[in-house]
Amino acid sequence: MKHVLVTGGAGYIGSHACKALVAAGYVPVSFDNLVYGHEWAVRWGPFVRGDILDRAALDAAIKEWQPVAVMHFAAFAYVGESVLNPGKYYRNNVAGSLNLLEAMRDHDIDKFIFSSTCATYGVPEVVPIPESLPQQPINPYGASKLMIEQMLRDFDVAHGLRSVSLRYFNAAGADPEGETGESHDPETHLIPLVLDAAAGTRPEIVVYGDDYDTPDGTCIRDYIHVADLADAHVLALGALESGSPTTAYNLGIGRGFSVKEVIDAARAVTGRDIPVRMGPRRPGDPPRLVGDATRIQRELGWQPKHASLEQMIGTAWRWHQEVNGEQ
Ligand SMILES: NC(=O)c1ccc[n+]([C@@H]2O[C@H](COP(=O)([O-])OP(=O)(O)OC[C@H]3O[C@@H](n4cnc5c(N)ncnc54)[C@H](O)[C@@H]3O)[C@@H](O)[C@H]2O)c1
Repeated sequence: MKHVLVTGGAGYIGSHACKALVAAGYVPVSFDNLVYGHEWAVRWGPFVRGDILDRAALDAAIKEWQPVAVMHFAAFAYVGESVLNPGKYYRNNVAGSLNLLEAMRDHDIDKFIFSSTCATYGVPEVVPIPESLPQQPINPYGASKLMIEQMLRDFDVAHGLRSVSLRYFNAAGADPEGETGESHDPETHLIPLVLDAAAGTRPEIVVYGDDYDTPDGTCIRDYIHVADLADAHVLALGALESGSPTTAYNLGIGRGFSVKEVIDAARAVTGRDIPVRMGPRRPGDPPRLVGDATRIQRELGWQPKHASLEQMIGTAWRWHQEVNGEQ
């Protein structure tokens, strides 16, 4: 059996990727320090509790499990916090990734799949955003991910370490079979916050700006179901195993939904009232972020299977109710 080291495997997207890896015949080894992840989310393979900044822990895990590839989800991902405390982000995301890449180099592991982000594009001049658009991040979180993409290109040239960087747009939803889902603390993502308001565990949802130049005035984002994201990782791994070169792909569904559309869809899915309060715009929030993901469709044959808002919110709601013990 081929093992894959999954850093951040106890987190939201990483745990879904572990499930997809098992379905494709791999054994995922989750390597996570549980700073944000959950041990209950590690259900599809061995768990190593460790920090990517700890080189000895990485070496020990690699020696024990002999992975053929690494999927790298471990990172800090709160944009606002990254502005206030950039050192925390450059240390964990950039120095942590460098540590991991050097460990891979020293153990001759040459395949890497990286969780990059649409935040590397900053405020795009063109929407939908193609991969060729210049990457000009406007916060340390996005900058940290762009630096890792650069390191990956350099490690390929110097050491033959091939990688696929997947620039996700907004991950959403939960495992359609209800086996894992999103559980962040603090939660900043729109759909789980809207569902908290539907369940009454949050008094209201605040909409940051309704005077943008969009059809209903609220910001538009490209939501992609987490199970579709997980499938893309397995396809990227297959491509690297067949000898594909280092590259980067956008991962979104190529269609945007506004904040108001998300709230309306959540009202329909849950059948609950969702109190809304209008707030001011947040600095640095682009009105429209939608990805052009046609390249990964064409080159890897990836197709989103859960592209409707109803599927994304429906699976997230089922998970939300399970976690909160609601019927
Ligand atoms: N969720 C999204 O919409 C989204 C969008 C774009 C990119 N991403 C990227 O995808 C990845 C996964 O995101 P997520 O939403 O699943 O986040 P998450 O917080 O649920 O998962 C990240 C995991 O990494 C672990 N981790 C963090 N630092 C670590 C360290 N130093 N050593 C070991 N483990 C560590 C955490 O404990 C957590 O389990 C992140 O790299 C994030 O930047 C996420």
